[in-house]
Amino acid sequence: MIKHDVVIVGSGLAGMRAALELCKDHDVAILSKVYPSRSHSGAAQGGIAAALGNSGDDSWQEHMFDTVKGGDYLGDQDAIEEYCKAAPRVIYELEHMGCIFSRTPEGKIAQRSFGGHSKPRACFAADRTGHSILHALHEQLLKNSKSIKIYSEWYMHSLISDGSRCAGVVVSDVRTGAMETMHAKAVIFCTGGYGRVFKITSNAFASTADGVIAAFNAGVPLEDPEFVQYHPSGLWRQGILFSEAARGEGGTLLNGDGKRFMETYAPTRMELAPRDIVSRAEQSEINEGRGIDGKDFVHLDLTHLGEAKIMERLPQIRQLGIDFIGVDCVKDLLPIQPTAHYSMGGIPTDINGQVILNHGDGKATPMEGYFAAGECACVSVHGANRLGTNSLLEAVVFGERAGRAALEYLKTAGFAPINESQEKTKVLNQVEEIYQSDGSESYNEVRTEMKETMTSLCGVYRNEENLKECISAVKDLQSRFKKGKVTDKGKLFNTELYEIMELGNMLKMAEIIATSALQRKESRGGHSRTDFPKRDDDNFLHHSLVYKNGEELEIKKRPVTITKYKPVERTY
Ligand code: FUM
Repeated sequence: MIKHDVVIVGSGLAGMRAALELCKDHDVAILSKVYPSRSHSGAAQGGIAAALGNSGDDSWQEHMFDTVKGGDYLGDQDAIEEYCKAAPRVIYELEHMGCIFSRTPEGKIAQRSFGGHSKPRACFAADRTGHSILHALHEQLLKNSKSIKIYSEWYMHSLISDGSRCAGVVVSDVRTGAMETMHAKAVIFCTGGYGRVFKITSNAFASTADGVIAAFNAGVPLEDPEFVQYHPSGLWRQGILFSEAARGEGGTLLNGDGKRFMETYAPTRMELAPRDIVSRAEQSEINEGRGIDGKDFVHLDLTHLGEAKIMERLPQIRQLGIDFIGVDCVKDLLPIQPTAHYSMGGIPTDINGQVILNHGDGKATPMEGYFAAGECACVSVHGANRLGTNSLLEAVVFGERAGRAALEYLKTAGFAPINESQEKTKVLNQVEEIYQSDGSESYNEVRTEMKETMTSLCGVYRNEENLKECISAVKDLQSRFKKGKVTDKGKLFNTELYEIMELGNMLKMAEIIATSALQRKESRGGHSRTDFPKRDDDNFLHHSLVYKNGEELEIKKRPVTITKYKPVERTY
């Protein structure tokens, strides 16, 4: 058995930031499926939001209002207020840790415009902002390597808890296949999202719902899983992210008639409306036959920006276009389509990253010793739709807060007892079941069909008929998954086995997303129902909480915290 005071699962921005809060006083483990600097936070390109006011006046109040409105009034405003207030301090701390932000001519941190933000407040490092912050934080981890042990390429299988207190995780070393229990006084999940459930996605291969499903299996509900964000500029057919910064720098969107179609959908904000609105606009153009050559993509035009500006501000996306499809955006138009990008929902937490089991009678019951931050968590600051650049900020702000809350908890908490062999045997049996299965189904086909089903039936636009068909198709795929056949039965670096376990998690997540989407009979933010096209505050101004009830899903409600801004119609 491995023992640490704290185990942090996930080594993106949230996980690393939490570790830095704890490492002065405690022995900390960070466990990750990938090497830390390969975490998905590195994929966020365009910026991190903070009302620094370096390009004109700005305030945390304006940042807060934009975030509340951008989230279609579903975000919890107490959390949003703390988060927007913390943002400027967080940016300067990152700078002092070594993050190389781009500069204004007078040497201040440069800020650019992003969708749904009324002021230019995206601090950026060209179009590699997540990458730059990730490396700065990784250097800090290495500096503190005496008290932080990094388990790279280890997989987390399950959360150990008695239903009210968390005591560790069951994990395995991908290289050797050795299964271990990690006993800890506190566990922090920073495991990211689940975009790989969809066919067209900007998400890294690691974003497969492992953390959220481990929480769900341990009795934690999932909050607002129906809200999945589609980013408007994914590379056609491949989904690879082409940063919103391209539009922030002046890029335009054109349909098959060569028209800037955002005039029709968001005349005041145009291409810089929030992502849910721009993605729907693109999908409507495509569905109504005005895609390029009638196909399922539109054009992103950067040709008027000029090579010098593109090389200074957007060098990575230029290179991605050249490498992946042979298109140089200095001279040519980029083919793009909406791509599944971000999970607004996740593991419910309070404002300090404490995981909440239920909210009965207005009282939040925590799972003791269990914290979550970053994309896997739902605080909820993004409500029904996240604004671009608010996710890097979320990871850093709530990673820090979860770390601090765990630090406080550890002042009195010890190791809870665990039954090591029972916890390990449960997971070993699951693995053995996969090894022993001699069915005829191909896991690869099941995965491909799941992704196609989710993108076509539970995508940018949804309706009752499609969602019911989606749930039934996913359940059928879950049955076929049980009859799969593994080809590699070895122990060493058996990536096939890990991909199968990830697929099992994604199939459960797909069912949860579609089921929660079916019950929300309204359109709000990233959840758009053609059969219920309006937002319905009378019946749906609440968070959804999806619980495991045997093999069934049970959905409950939680009220939205509204402090400063009463819901009004959302127009741009
Ligand atoms: O478009 C982008 O650069 C993505 C940023 C984000 O999701 O915050």
